[in-house]
Amino acid sequence: MQAYTARAHTNIALLKYWGKANQTEIIPTTTSISLTLDEFYTDTTVQFDETLTEDQVSLNGQALTGNSGEKITRFLDDVRSMANISAKASVKSTNHVPTAAGLASSASAFAALAGAASSAAGLELSKTELSRLARRGSGSASRSIYGGFVEWMRGVDDQTSFAIPLTEQVDWDIQLLTVVINDQPKKIDSRGGMQHTMATSPFYQEWVDNTNALTVPMENAIAAHDFTTLGQMAEANALQMHATNTTACPPFNYLTDASWDVIQLAAQLRQTGIEVYATMDAGPNVKLISKSTDTDQIQAQLQQLMPNITTVVATPGPGLKIVKGDS
Ligand code: PMV
Repeated sequence: MQAYTARAHTNIALLKYWGKANQTEIIPTTTSISLTLDEFYTDTTVQFDETLTEDQVSLNGQALTGNSGEKITRFLDDVRSMANISAKASVKSTNHVPTAAGLASSASAFAALAGAASSAAGLELSKTELSRLARRGSGSASRSIYGGFVEWMRGVDDQTSFAIPLTEQVDWDIQLLTVVINDQPKKIDSRGGMQHTMATSPFYQEWVDNTNALTVPMENAIAAHDFTTLGQMAEANALQMHATNTTACPPFNYLTDASWDVIQLAAQLRQTGIEVYATMDAGPNVKLISKSTDTDQIQAQLQQLMPNITTVVATPGPGLKIVKGDS
């Protein structure tokens, strides 16, 4: 069968997904809104081959085994049953993430895999179907099907939980400046972290209700290019998400003292008129929602606070692309 290659970019959630209403189907408790980023992406080539006795999966040239390999095989089983085929597949994936950025993401990985595997299996899926398929690999991957600002509507089941584009071409100044505090894999993965918090934090439901109440205000801020309102809501939503983790039982925390130093620097910079807002995912790195015109000043302040700290700037990026062949 023909090989197909897909490229998908990572995304940063402005309103977060943190908890599943249905764990098997990956139906989230919140509608989330994200921005797809150009600098970080995954290229994946898939070919189904009758002569293979098992799936062969590699990431950056290394064979993927154990849990990660099994997760890919389960995902491929889903594709095989949709396409009514039984052939095993060769999957070759490359992550393009700046060295030490610590931003490798399951979002770009599963969005690219959904695109390449479905095409290689002979399926012609719509973007909605691709988003639903990617979601079953990793929730945030549902949003990486589209470029620019994207909304993952939580829905109630597999049919109704998928992403839609809000603005695919972003023509105003918004960027993400990542401060790399630690590039090591996280100790508590997002899957385990979110379920523990959901089950044990007394504040979890409040976070869910607050997040869902922000869907329309966030859509409006994006439509109006209202950087200030967008940034304020994104920062509050991230901090509240992390507060559910520190109030879980037993508590846990992705943020370090250095993360807090950067969050506080953002607040200080705002007082001097430089608009910058912090957001953080399941790790200590702080991502500063900012404007390209302020990059130099932000970096200068960061270097004073943390000499030699690594930063990576990313701008809005495109949606999933699928091409025939192996490159
Ligand atoms: O898609 P997952 O299972 O890696 O979860 C992503 C969770 C967050 O990054 C913390 C939030 C989000 O919406 O991307």
